Amino acid sequence: MALRLIFLPVLIFCLRRGVRLPGGLASLIFPPMAIRKIARMGHPVLKGVAKPVPDPTAPQVKALVRDMIETMIDANGAGLAAPQIYEPWRIVVFQAPPERAPEEIGEEEAFDHTAPLTVLINPEIEMLTEEREKGWEGCLSVPGLRGAVPRYTALRYRGVSLAGEPIERVARGFHARVVQHECDHLDGILYPQRMDDLGELIFETEARAWAAAHRPETEDGTEEEKADA
Ligand code: NI
Repeated sequence: MALRLIFLPVLIFCLRRGVRLPGGLASLIFPPMAIRKIARMGHPVLKGVAKPVPDPTAPQVKALVRDMIETMIDANGAGLAAPQIYEPWRIVVFQAPPERAPEEIGEEEAFDHTAPLTVLINPEIEMLTEEREKGWEGCLSVPGLRGAVPRYTALRYRGVSLAGEPIERVARGFHARVVQHECDHLDGILYPQRMDDLGELIFETEARAWAAAHRPETEDGTEEEKADA
């Protein structure tokens, strides 16, 4: 058990860089993982309300989360919810890297804008503001498209880790956005349903030209990597 906890960061590091662990080592430490097929918009699994996880520490949950992380990293995503791999459970994984935080904010505030790779089971969200901001989103279940989606700019989320320990964090900016996007998946909601102007739903191949023509002032979004979640 402890071995696995120690090696999980190593494994994630290797996956991200496409490095294979030395022969047999990965399978010695971990049962085989799998990159799963991602459900696409229209499949019923994306429309249902996912079920709470009765025991977050169960081995089946760990195996599912490993597949979610591997699938997310393989697809270059910023987040993934279990229903996206046809598993209707209230589990999300996501990350909000420091490079997504605005440059102009102070160190203390920046903390709320970032999150390491996080596994959140049975999440609950409490909005901390009524302010919403539009930002570009993509979704691994809606491939090839981007949309400008209004999201609350600050929230508190609570949930449970794989170890069964409580997680509670304040999230702002992209961090708050990715959490709202992923938790929406657990309630059968895809980002186009959150949009107020479907004229801002575009193909990502057109994103650069569209942004130049429509929103020359925009700084975020259309060309970022890991935009899908
Ligand atoms: Ni998504």
